[in-house]
Amino acid sequence: MRISVIGCGYLGAVHAASMVELGHEVVGVDVDEKRVAALCAARAPFYEPGFEDLLQRALATGRLGFSTDVADAAGAQVHFLCVGTPQKHGEYAADLRYVDAAVESLLAVLQPGEVVAGKSTVPVGTAARLADLVGGKVPGALVAWNPEFLREGFAVQDTLHPDRLVYGLPAGPDGGTAERLLDEVYAPIVARGTPKVATDYATAEMVKTAANSFLATKISFINAMAELCEATGADVKQLADAIGHDDRIGRRFLNAGLGFGGGCLPKDIRAFMARAGELGADQALTFLREVDNINMRRRIRMVELAREVLDGSLLGKRVAVLGAAFKPDSDDIRDSPALNVAAQLQLQGAVVRVTDPAAVDNGRREWPHLDFAATPEEAAERANAVLVLTEWRQYRELDPVAFGEVVASRRVLDGRNALDREAWTAAGWTYRALGRRAG
Ligand code: UDX
Repeated sequence: MRISVIGCGYLGAVHAASMVELGHEVVGVDVDEKRVAALCAARAPFYEPGFEDLLQRALATGRLGFSTDVADAAGAQVHFLCVGTPQKHGEYAADLRYVDAAVESLLAVLQPGEVVAGKSTVPVGTAARLADLVGGKVPGALVAWNPEFLREGFAVQDTLHPDRLVYGLPAGPDGGTAERLLDEVYAPIVARGTPKVATDYATAEMVKTAANSFLATKISFINAMAELCEATGADVKQLADAIGHDDRIGRRFLNAGLGFGGGCLPKDIRAFMARAGELGADQALTFLREVDNINMRRRIRMVELAREVLDGSLLGKRVAVLGAAFKPDSDDIRDSPALNVAAQLQLQGAVVRVTDPAAVDNGRREWPHLDFAATPEEAAERANAVLVLTEWRQYRELDPVAFGEVVASRRVLDGRNALDREAWTAAGWTYRALGRRAG
C-alpha cells in the first residue's frame, strides 16, 4: 500500500519507518527542512532506542521517503496525521492549529476513496469536525481516528507490537471501507490476533485521553500515598509492592517519586478537563485537577527535602542533579520534573549542575540559565548533595563508594526511588527519598 504520514516528529517518524517494516511504501511529510534532511540521511532527530536502525533498514528498502512538500503525499491510500497537539499557551486546552493546517494542506492532494487517519491526541469532537470539512471539500474521502499509545523509549516496540488497535470510524458503509483499509495497513498486526476495538469517532478519541488520565491518576494515587508515608513513617515502595500483588491493581505505574512529566500525560489531562468544561461535563473530571496538583506538589516537596538535608538553607550549596529528561531512555525534556526541580533549586540560591546521558543538548537550548555537565562525576564535583531525578540505568548502577570520592558531602536524594538504599547507606551516604524513611 502507498501511505503518507503528515508530521514527522516523534510519533510520525517512528510510524513512517514502522509502516515500511510492515511492507508498505511510505512518504513522510514535515514542514521542518532540517528534520526532513536528517531523516533522509538516516539520522534520528531525537533519541529513541532502536529507531535509527529501523530507519536505516526502512530507507534501504527504497520504500521510504521524506519530503517538505505535501504534494508528495498524492496517491497514498491512507494519510496518517501525526502532528503535535500541544497545550495552548496560558490555557489548559489543546492547540489544534497543526492538525487543522495539516488537514487543510492535504485537501489539495486528497482523492475520493482515500482515508485521512488521525493519530494525534485530540479533544473529543475533532474527528467529526474534520470529517465534515474533508467530506465537504473532497466528497468520498474519509476520516478515521486511530489513536497511538506509544511510550517514549519503547516507541518502535509499541508501534510494531501494540497492545490493541483502536479505530474510530464514520457511520454507515463508509465505516466498513475505512476499517478494511486500516486492516490492510496493519495486516501483520491484525493477523497475530491483536485485540481491535472498532468504534465511533468520539469513543476512539476518548480512549486515548481516558487511558492517559488513568495512568496519570495511578501515578498520583501512589504519590498521594507517598505523602502519607512521609507523614507516618511508612514505606511507599513496600506499600506499592504489596497492593500491586493484587491483579486488579497491578504493580506497573505505581512507582512513587517525582511524578509524571513529558509531552503527553500533563497536557492530556489538562486538555481533557478543558474539553469536559466546554461540553458542560466538567464535574466528571474535577478529580483530574487533584491528580495534577498532587503531581506538581511532588516537585515542591523535592526542593523542600533538598533544603532539609542541606541543613535548612540552599543558599550557595552545590547541588548535582542527575537527570534532565522527563524519563529514562529519552532526550525529551518537555515538562521535565527534573529540570523543574533544578530550576527551583537554582532560583532559591543553590549552585546547580545538571547532567543527563541524552538530554544535555536539549537542556542547554531550552534552559540556558542552567549549568549542564557531561557526566555525573563532573556534575557532582564537590557537591553538597546529589539528586537523582531521572532513573537512567547509568545512575542506578553508579558505584556509591567511588562516586562518594567526588562529592564534598555524601548526601543523596533519590527522586525516583531507584537506587539501592542499602548500598548507598553502607557507603556512608545520607539517603533520602520521597515516601520513604531516611536511610
Ligand atoms: C505516555 C503513555 O504511557 C503512552 O501510552 C502515551 O501514548 C503517551 O504518554 P510517555 O509520555 O512516553 O507515554 O511516558 P510514560 O512511560 O507513560 O511516563 C510518563 C511519566 O510518568 C514519566 O515522567 C515517568 O517518569 C512517570 N512515571 C511513570 C512515574 O512517575 N511513575 C510510574 O510508575 C510510571
